[in-house]
Formats: sequence, C-alpha cells, structure tokens
Amino acid sequence: MTVQEQHQRGIDLFNEGRYREAVSIFSVVLRTDDSSAMWNNWASAQAAAGEFGAAEKGFKKALQIDPSNTQASRNLSILIDSLTAHNRSISPPGDELLLNTGMSEEMKRNWDFVEKRELLFALVGFDFGREPETKLDEIRAFKKNESAFLLNTLKFTKNDVVLDLGSGCGFIARVVAPLCRQLYCLDISSEFLRFAREELTQFTNVDFHRMPYGDLHYLDDKKITKGYANAVFIHFNFFDVVVYLREIYRILARGGLFLFGLSNTDCLDIHTDRYFSLVLSNYVKERTSPTLMQWNSAHSVCAVAGQIGFEASEVWVGHGSAMILLRKP
Ligand SMILES: C[S@@+](CC[C@H](N)C(=O)[O-])C[C@H]1O[C@@H](n2cnc3c(N)ncnc32)[C@H](O)[C@@H]1O
Repeated sequence: MTVQEQHQRGIDLFNEGRYREAVSIFSVVLRTDDSSAMWNNWASAQAAAGEFGAAEKGFKKALQIDPSNTQASRNLSILIDSLTAHNRSISPPGDELLLNTGMSEEMKRNWDFVEKRELLFALVGFDFGREPETKLDEIRAFKKNESAFLLNTLKFTKNDVVLDLGSGCGFIARVVAPLCRQLYCLDISSEFLRFAREELTQFTNVDFHRMPYGDLHYLDDKKITKGYANAVFIHFNFFDVVVYLREIYRILARGGLFLFGLSNTDCLDIHTDRYFSLVLSNYVKERTSPTLMQWNSAHSVCAVAGQIGFEASEVWVGHGSAMILLRKP
C-alpha cells in the first residue's frame, strides 16, 4: 500500500469506529509523513479510542509543527474542556445563591435548592446564561459530551448494575441507563432527585434514592458492578473522600470498578487555574458552603484508596484535575 492508501485506510477505519486500528495505521504513516495534519489524525483516533493522554500529546505535536493548524487547536481545546468538564459545576453562582436565599442550614447542607433554575446554576454555573431552564437541550448535550470519558473507561454492558453517586439532574444517568441492566441514582438532595425522576421517566431500569450523608447501605444487597461520581468529589474535603471511599468499597462487587474526578492539587497552579482564585475568594466570604469546590491530592487519594483495599490508578491527570479509577480486587 502507498502512503496515501494507508492514510485513506486509516480514515476509513476511523469512520467505521475502529479507532485502535486507525491509530496503528496512522502510526505507520507518521514514519514517512510527520506532518501536522497527520499528527492531528493520529491524535483524533487516540481520543476516540479513549487514550486521552496520548491524544493531548498528539494535538500538541500537531500544533508544534504548525501553530496555525486550527483543526488541531480546536480539537485540543475540546479535549481539554471535556477532560476538565467536571470542574464546570463551579460553585460561585451556587454560593451566591446560598448567601441570598432563605434556605435553612439543613437545606444548604443537602443541596436542596427549591427552584429548578437554582438547581441548574448549582450544576453548570452561569455557563448557559441566567435562564438555564430554557437551555435544557443544550445542557443535556453538554453533559452527554462530558460523559464520554466515563463511557470509554467503564465500558458498560447489559450485565452491569451501576451506581450514579450524586446523580444531580440525571443528565449523565440518561446516557448510561440504556447501556446497563440497572442504574441506581443516589443523591443527598431530594430536590435534585425530584428533577432526575422527571428527566428519566422513560427508563424502567432506573431507581432513585435519597441517601443520608456518607451512607450507602441502601445498596448493600444490590451487587453493584460499576459506578461513577461526576462532579461530586470536587466538593469533598479529605474526610469526605475517606468516608465515601469506605462506603463504595463495601457496596461494590468483587472486580467492580468506580470512576470519579477530583480537583487535583498535584498539578494545580494557583495563579493560572481557571477556578482557584474565584473559589478562594468565595471561600473567604462563606467558609462553610457545601457547594464550594475543594482540592485534594490525587496521589494521596489513591494512597488512601489503597489502604481501604482498592487498586487505584490516576487514569488522567492535568490542568488541576484528575480522573481516578478504583477496582475492588
Ligand atoms: C455538581 S452536581 C453533579 C451532578 C451530576 N453528577 C452531574 O455531573 O451532572 C453535584 C451533585 O452531588 C450531590 N452531592 C453533593 N454532596 C453529596 C454527598 N455528600 N453525597 C451524595 N451526593 C452529594 C449534589 O446534590 C448534586 O446533585
């Protein structure tokens, strides 16, 4: 095969969804065509195959060779946005709301915002404007995009019994529900659960449960095979992390997997991070707010997960974030 034929074969494989094979063939082509466009192809196939670290390096290489490659720069920013997307549920708007509402301390602790609009602010900040309830389809699409990493990593099957911990409005759950046997949406907030129930009425395999803080006993007999917490551990301090990891260990079946994102001090630059300064100034105003973002060290979280009995790995690290995958041996 000529280089052009190999290149075309790579594109065909990519279009057929055979991403790993596309990566292999683009790797061969790169030996003779070390161009920015080819690195962009290779990185796109890596991203589609779920190899996000390699994809990031590939897009950067494409931009190093040709800084004006707009396709590579767009791909790189989409990749980074989706990998750090769990940071988007940034707390400042929620905290401003908490300061101004007549919510009781108990309601605040349990994220029980009464208005749909306030729930959505707590979920996506002001990214979708001041009337996010009018942008539900856009928010669903954004959350679907955000779920790509967990779908690639957890690879749900129809045998899986899945936990969505801190399920919020159910926007991630609606992507996962069709892929698994049973989905349990647990949340500390009755109001978020009310929203999620409405959001998921068409699914018969989803169960909703209001959990007390740090208590997963409801799942004791459910034989959970896989689970995830999207944009939840970013609100936990280190004690919360330990409490929840112990519970997750107890309810997970042997061989079970659990994926979650963290705001990660190991790679945090307090001067350039998109959120740190803003959250810090909110912290100074309202130090006890439960919706504030919290930072933890991914390295330390993996170490305590190991002490609890998990095999833990940082499956993605960068830009002040980390994705951690736990396996119960
Ligand atoms: C930022 S939202 C994320 C929602 C959803 N996972 C998503 O990605 O769209 C955080 C969710 O975690 C829930 N939550 C916060 N603290 C919790 C806790 N200690 N236990 C269980 N759920 C909690 C909140 O009620 C809220 O629904």
